[in-house]
Amino acid sequence: MTAISAHEDDIFRPALHYTAKNTWLNDPNGLVYHEGIYHLYYQNNPFGNVWGNVSWGHATSVDLVNWDEQPVAIACDAEEDIFSGSIVIDQYNTSGLGNGQTAPLVAMYTSAYKDSSARRGTQAQSLAWSSDGGYTWTKHHSNPVLDRNSADFRDPKVFRYDGPPGSYWVMVAVEANDHKVVIYSSDNLRDWHYLSSFGPANATGGVWECPDLFPLPLDGDEERTKWILTVNLNPGGPNGGSGGQYFVGHFDGVAFTSETTVTDGSSETAELDAYHWLDWGRDYYAAVSFNNAPDGRRLMVGWMNNWQYGAAIPTWPWRSSMSLVREMSLVTDQGQPRLSQQVADEYRNCGSMSVNTWSGLAIDEGMRHLHPGAPVEIIDVTFLPGSAEEFGLIIRGNGTDGTRIGIRPSENRIITDRTSSGNTEFHESFASIDTAPLRPARDGSYSLKIFVDHCSVEVFAQDGQVTMTGLIFPGPDSTCLSLYAKGGTATAPSLKVARLG
Ligand code: FRU
Repeated sequence: MTAISAHEDDIFRPALHYTAKNTWLNDPNGLVYHEGIYHLYYQNNPFGNVWGNVSWGHATSVDLVNWDEQPVAIACDAEEDIFSGSIVIDQYNTSGLGNGQTAPLVAMYTSAYKDSSARRGTQAQSLAWSSDGGYTWTKHHSNPVLDRNSADFRDPKVFRYDGPPGSYWVMVAVEANDHKVVIYSSDNLRDWHYLSSFGPANATGGVWECPDLFPLPLDGDEERTKWILTVNLNPGGPNGGSGGQYFVGHFDGVAFTSETTVTDGSSETAELDAYHWLDWGRDYYAAVSFNNAPDGRRLMVGWMNNWQYGAAIPTWPWRSSMSLVREMSLVTDQGQPRLSQQVADEYRNCGSMSVNTWSGLAIDEGMRHLHPGAPVEIIDVTFLPGSAEEFGLIIRGNGTDGTRIGIRPSENRIITDRTSSGNTEFHESFASIDTAPLRPARDGSYSLKIFVDHCSVEVFAQDGQVTMTGLIFPGPDSTCLSLYAKGGTATAPSLKVARLG
């Protein structure tokens, strides 16, 4: 590791994103809201800052923004690692695990069996429960409760289904190498019955992992509710490495049918642009949604890293963080149902912000520096194209270099360029220019909302219809914000920058 070292003063620790204090984390697990508290569990190595000793770490929050790290919730042992999974509130004690006073929380997780286990090399679904609101957990004596004698059966997401065929628990999990989501049902969370499978379909350039299945009203109309199946894949993401795709369709309590399938997944040559991605950047993976979030909100969190280089990112003593929490909605775009994502409103209260606004900014060819800036900023900007072939912003800059977020109107694309973003040398595949399709609004404008933290940038374009999340490792003094245009001019009719104090 050269250039900027994080070791001395922990310069990359995020202000707005959750990270463990001094250990490794990956996938968010068991996201659940219970009695006023959001619980975030996660894949965690309690003893190091690279992947291993896989256990469920735990953090709690009352506002989604400020998180308190809690003791490890479910620990690995000599026979099993505790891979990803989910948590439900067993309100009516269907599992019989309740203590007669409070509803138990029930976790379904993947037991990844180690060499010392008689089941070595296989993955199966296991259950643990908590009677104290999610702080301490007991593994069930009859684990695993669902076994297919498979090496790649993992990542159960369980939810309560209520529909014409009845009311029961549904689990979606993956057969990762087969690019299949497998669906099971249960009345008691212990006995599971196979219902159906979905896939391969659309992107199959890597293993399928961490699925989720949930309903959303189309354009806010409950009468036109559709189901969204999300599935992460690694590698094979839209700009390389880890990524997440989604399908929109129907779930009848037994099977999911997709309306947005482009290919049957048998060929990897179809255009990645044609698929539907949860995020087009390279650092949004293993995204899943909260169970039981209040007010019917569908809140999602992803792991803000990529398996390509995740173990090498230059942070210390912690490594990896979660994305900001996103609220999902389903909207009609050009006649098609598409996800739209907004950062949860709660981040409005994330600390004392000083706000600067500009209007009618002319962007001539070259760079226009706006102010000294700050390492943590929330930027709202609208652009109108002029004669420039590319225009946009440079964030976390040093006057010449920085991270470029640009629009190429003639290509209908947005790019994020982190080739000169700071420390990129720690891994050969890190420096990259990532792109996504992006169309202008009816009036020809492009609007971006951008969340910049000490080592990340999350872009929400055109009201959250395209999102791009990426890690960056700039020097602490690289806080310059600039507008730029290449090969001509553009304008920024409005720009608002809120800087965290
Ligand atoms: C996804 C994943 C999951 C697995 C976990 C192991 O990032 O590979 O499929 O459960 O990580 O840590």
